[in-house]
Amino acid sequence: MTAETGLVQLENVGLRYGSGPEVLRDISLSLATGSFHFLTGPSGAGKTSLLRLLYLAMRPTRGTVRLFDRDVSRLVRKRRPALRRRIGVVSQEFGLISHLTAAENVALPLRIARASAGEIREHVTELLRWVGLGRELDELPAALSDGQKQRVAVARAVIARPDLLLADEPTGNVDETVAMRLIHLMEELNKVGTTVVVATHDESLASRFAHAAFALDGGELVRTGPVNGMPAERAEA
Ligand SMILES: Nc1ncnc2c1ncn2[C@@H]1O[C@H](COP(=O)(O)OP(=O)(O)OP(=O)(O)O)[C@@H](O)[C@H]1O
Ligand SMILES: [Mg+2]
Repeated sequence: MTAETGLVQLENVGLRYGSGPEVLRDISLSLATGSFHFLTGPSGAGKTSLLRLLYLAMRPTRGTVRLFDRDVSRLVRKRRPALRRRIGVVSQEFGLISHLTAAENVALPLRIARASAGEIREHVTELLRWVGLGRELDELPAALSDGQKQRVAVARAVIARPDLLLADEPTGNVDETVAMRLIHLMEELNKVGTTVVVATHDESLASRFAHAAFALDGGELVRTGPVNGMPAERAEA
């Protein structure tokens, strides 16, 4: 038996795509349960690749990934869905299901969790209204702008209160007001226990919050700790 030291723990992790070069090198990090982290770094630094390891879409080429106190580096396929259900993901490409409406997309995690139809409708409507999409409930993704799709993707990722929320550039297509609203939504979830990782190349956005950050550059972890500058939004970490 091992004591739980972090919800997410990476030790000397390396990752390559096929026979290409390593796009992540010697990554070691630990995320405490209930923490909120930004993952920053320029385009191509490896942010999405790191998140793919954490939501079990890829396995490391070397090193160890531990999630929920389990070694998932060599997890057998059939064990993946149960862990994956504990993780909310906002992917950089949104990943919405094209034949389902905005509301139906957001409802999916609640359906999987077997919530009642009434509960689902109420929650979904409230959350979509909150992100400014009260009039788009019944639209298909194709009829939405990128910023609207992004909001649907965030709503879907948070609605079932996952243990771990991984958001890849969740504010890349929205204006600043909506961006702040989405980060605040993730903070609310964090306050009730979800561990959150938000990947963004936008250091100025991250620096407005008092959360810790990991910075990647060229596949290496180059900095950990608070984002530069004084926190403007909240005093507590
Ligand atoms: N599916 C893939 N196949 C091969 N190489 C890939 C693949 N995805 C990413 N890479 C490479 O891995 C490196 C890191 O890419 P990644 O997408 O993780 O960066 P990122 O930090 O998310 O960038 P961005 O800010 O542009 O989203 C890049 O060199 C990229 O070319
Ligand atoms: Mg990316």
